[in-house]
Amino acid sequence: MRKMVMLLDLDLIQDILVKDFGNFTDHGYYCNEKDDPVSAHLLNLDGVRWKTMRAKLTPAFTSGKIKFMLTSVVDIANQLVNVLEETLSSTNMDDGVHCDDLMLRYTTDVTGSVAFGLNCNSLKNPESKLTEITKKGCSYRHSMPVMSFMLLFPKLSRKLGLKAVVEEVSQFFLRVVRETVEFRDRTGEQRKDFLNILMELRKPNTVDNLTMDEITAQAFLFFAAGYETSSSVLSFCLYELALNQDIQDKARREINEIIAQHDGKSTYEAVKEMKYLLQVMHETMRMYSVGPFLSRKTAEDYIVSNTNYVIEKGTTVIIPMDAIHYDPDIYPNPDQFDPERFTKTEVENRHPMAWLDFSRGPRACIGSRFAEFQVLIGLSSLIKNFRFSPSQKTQIPMKFNMYKLLRGPEKGVYLKVEKL
Ligand code: HEM
Repeated sequence: MRKMVMLLDLDLIQDILVKDFGNFTDHGYYCNEKDDPVSAHLLNLDGVRWKTMRAKLTPAFTSGKIKFMLTSVVDIANQLVNVLEETLSSTNMDDGVHCDDLMLRYTTDVTGSVAFGLNCNSLKNPESKLTEITKKGCSYRHSMPVMSFMLLFPKLSRKLGLKAVVEEVSQFFLRVVRETVEFRDRTGEQRKDFLNILMELRKPNTVDNLTMDEITAQAFLFFAAGYETSSSVLSFCLYELALNQDIQDKARREINEIIAQHDGKSTYEAVKEMKYLLQVMHETMRMYSVGPFLSRKTAEDYIVSNTNYVIEKGTTVIIPMDAIHYDPDIYPNPDQFDPERFTKTEVENRHPMAWLDFSRGPRACIGSRFAEFQVLIGLSSLIKNFRFSPSQKTQIPMKFNMYKLLRGPEKGVYLKVEKL
């Protein structure tokens, strides 16, 4: 019901994401700022609202700020190791540990702590309130036909007051953020988290001020964009390492060497040096790109360079990541897991648009550096302490859950785990 064009030519993709970005700034997703303020986060905003908010948030994602926010992640990764160790005695290893569930609890705790300074404790208590809320937050408020209606007729949907975020989730975040901001304003408490950075970005009595609703939506964004994506990468990474023991051993050698030089700890500084582990992560993301495609809306008629083709105003442009990531001309034997594809030289020899998991250009993932550290700190702690291998319940070959928007395993990632 909507005009779409699907791009496969990497030069044209580069024109659209980078060179001529000004004509393709919008995602065309649905949000309703008036009735459903939590939905108005960066990912869902378009036009001038997106541009202003992106400029306001960019300073929150500099490496200095990320390092500041990551302090708690190392502690949570230690808890992850302890919880997994405790789980081993009560797990039937013929089936193995439910690793994707564990990874989701790890990233929930990281996100709660980094976004709001909340101690969610979902690793220790899988039934925690925040786990319940975030699981609901990842599901859709409406059925597919209603969601399609909102995407096709956003103005009418807004007039009808249609909301996108599940009511309980939005009420939860509105309350938690309001209470926390008021408490910190009253007591002058400072925390090393994203909310603290957002509060510092407030400039009262200027047009640049962030309202309470805007702060809530951007803090919620950490959940909307950050925790499920990172846990999906972690789970598929463990899965591939379990199937490829030689690669797991090589990663462990690097981790042990580097951690030994950093007082035995998986810190920000240590994981920054783990080049091979980053290659492992990027190869996982090539094979299991978290989002199925990138999407842009065409602002004005656009003539494709050196051709007579016109992409008409209003057309949705789709960039299918999987088709590119599995193109054998770009990645020979694309079904094979091979982190050597991501050495510095290999990457430099490829087209810059050949790997798009964090996207490219001014609208690329704003949290990519944070995501990398969150994944690498978790992964290095796990690989250092445990060996992962397939169990009788491991699904080989992997199949995906077709009822989720983001990539997830059909039957979970179950792996045999041994303490080292
Ligand atoms: C491995 C984990 C992650 C992956 C694979 C990922 C991937 C992506 C992708 C593909 C986009 C769309 C870019 C586009 O349309 O061109 C995106 C956007 C975004 N991501 Fe991530 N992301 C991850 C983690 C995170 C984290 C931890 C955050 C934390 C805040 C985050 C925040 C965002 C935001 C705010 C946007 C919207 C940017 C905008 O529209 O200007 N992401 N991400």
